[in-house]
Amino acid sequence: MKAFIVIVLLSVADLSLQAEWSYDYETQWPGICRTGLQQSPINIMTQDAVLDPHQAHIQGPLQFRGYSDVRVTAVNNGHTLKWSGVPGTPAPVLSGGPLRSNYTFLQFHLHWLSEHAIDGMKYPLEIHFVHIKNGLTIDQALQRPDGLAVVGVMALVSHGANNDRALGEIMPVVPNLLDSTQNETAPKHIDMT
Ligand SMILES: *[C@@H]1O[C@H](CO)[C@@H](O)[C@H](O)[C@H]1NC(C)=O
Ligand SMILES: *[C@@H]1O[C@H](CO)[C@@H](O)[C@H](O)[C@H]1NC(C)=O
Ligand SMILES: [Zn+2]
Repeated sequence: MKAFIVIVLLSVADLSLQAEWSYDYETQWPGICRTGLQQSPINIMTQDAVLDPHQAHIQGPLQFRGYSDVRVTAVNNGHTLKWSGVPGTPAPVLSGGPLRSNYTFLQFHLHWLSEHAIDGMKYPLEIHFVHIKNGLTIDQALQRPDGLAVVGVMALVSHGANNDRALGEIMPVVPNLLDSTQNETAPKHIDMT
């Protein structure tokens, strides 16, 4: 698997309480989901990307702390497969880049096909690592444009040993998650790097 990282800040559909929606019919999402100008999915056109030579917006690289040993449980919630940090265990922290605070890891989940596109191309898989701004509740974070920080990792699938390494931490439980009536899996340490 080849992967690269794009950061997107969004108030995220995946945390929505609305049960009746589907990724298969994005063009039929109602209201602001279709007409708004700051909505996912975003098609990132690289030729329209703006350089930030004076680091006015992006101040150095993203920093991922504590990603190598995370205690998670996994669940099939009917929309996606989701791995959530176990409350009360050390949580990874994201900072740097365009972020002005520390953001604590909540969960990651999968989108297949990718939600976002780059130069019009969707990827077979997009992994979203969702973080919440330190000091906020989820309700508070959803009200603020900077409340959540989501790192999207686009994946290209290919044959070879790298596939096993890239997804090896999560694949062992995937067969157990195919049935959405199953409870979340038992807590397990994984390496999210
Ligand atoms: C983020 O956390 C680190 C480590 O605890 C701390 O040194 C730093 O000041 C924090 N950054 C912000 C912007 O609060
Ligand atoms: C899920 O957990 C509940 C509560 O612990 C239990 O009653 C139920 O049998 C479990 N379901 C499955 C499919 O394991
Ligand atoms: Zn997502």
